[in-house]
Amino acid sequence: EQIEKGGYEHFMLKEIYEQPLAIKDTYRGRLLVEEGIIKLSGVEDNMKRFLNADRIIIVACGTSWHAGLVAEYIFEDLARIPVEVEYASEFRYRNPVITEKDVVISISQSGETADTLAAIKLAKSKGAFVFGVCNVVGSSIARETDAGAYTHAGPEIGVASTKAFTTQITLLTMMALRLARAKGTISSSDYRRQLQELELIPEKVKEALKADKHIQSIAETYKDSRNMLYLGRGYNFPVALEGALKLKEISYIHAEGYPAAEMKHGPIALIDENMPVIVIATKKGHYEKVVSNIQEIKSRKGKIIGIVTQGDVSVRELADHVIEVPETLENLSPLLTTIPLQLLSYHIAVMLGKNVDQPRNLAKSVTVE
Ligand code: G6P
Repeated sequence: EQIEKGGYEHFMLKEIYEQPLAIKDTYRGRLLVEEGIIKLSGVEDNMKRFLNADRIIIVACGTSWHAGLVAEYIFEDLARIPVEVEYASEFRYRNPVITEKDVVISISQSGETADTLAAIKLAKSKGAFVFGVCNVVGSSIARETDAGAYTHAGPEIGVASTKAFTTQITLLTMMALRLARAKGTISSSDYRRQLQELELIPEKVKEALKADKHIQSIAETYKDSRNMLYLGRGYNFPVALEGALKLKEISYIHAEGYPAAEMKHGPIALIDENMPVIVIATKKGHYEKVVSNIQEIKSRKGKIIGIVTQGDVSVRELADHVIEVPETLENLSPLLTTIPLQLLSYHIAVMLGKNVDQPRNLAKSVTVE
């Protein structure tokens, strides 16, 4: 096992650090920047189904569901296709309205999650076209779906999902861009820019990982907190949910993710000097509005940890701590802002002496409902 961990103390840390390579493996041979081409055979072969779709329904569980929420923003924003994101466990028992004109995208790292598999079977029985985004090759979901694409993240052993999440977002971004190009909802210059920026993401993830030591010291300060709040807007709202989930899963500290503006409808009541609030406040994407949310937290004495773009000034003035990530396009920012949140929960869990790779009560793949 020590050899498998490749010199890292835990699988989770190894997998966090593998992300630059895993993301590259996801787009390798599929993202041809010079030619301006995205090659995903599962999408090409079924282009008509995608282009004729009235809407896309995404079904998934856990972290994969969070990747689905990010995808909702990307597909609607870039490809102008309406998207609904469903917990597979709710969808399957809700007697949902599904037609032959629906495209269902199921997202699953393991390809074995029972609820997701059942949701796929239901959608297929109603005539929908089902596309699978899986990591494990030959898994049940990969076999059950009509078409699909693998993330090629490599084996993920840590129960808390890390590289599966960022590679799912990478793949879903490529799908959205390909469909946007086919539909003509993106200009050729924006499309080119997207491809170029996506190719740079692995290097930028490497850069984001350099904050590790700094994040470790922040973890030391907050490891004894009872609660934490994670806030984000737009593309980074699902990242806030994912950050909170990571902390809950491995440190057993209660955490909640919330859309930053929704804070005033509830969570703001919880804010006092004992509440650390992690706010994703990168430059693009409602930056000014997030800064005013930060002011509201500060006036209630909450402790602020800002996830900011390199060189940020405004949030730095207000926050107790900032963690920088490189600048990128707004829709690609989740691939970077996720990194410090993974590291923060990892370090807190290690400091609390928790079993990081195999947290209590959780399973890597939930094959029963
Ligand atoms: C379990 C795992 C999570 C994962 C979820 C969905 O809860 O602990 O890390 O996100 O299942 O799994 P899937 O393999 O379908 O992505």
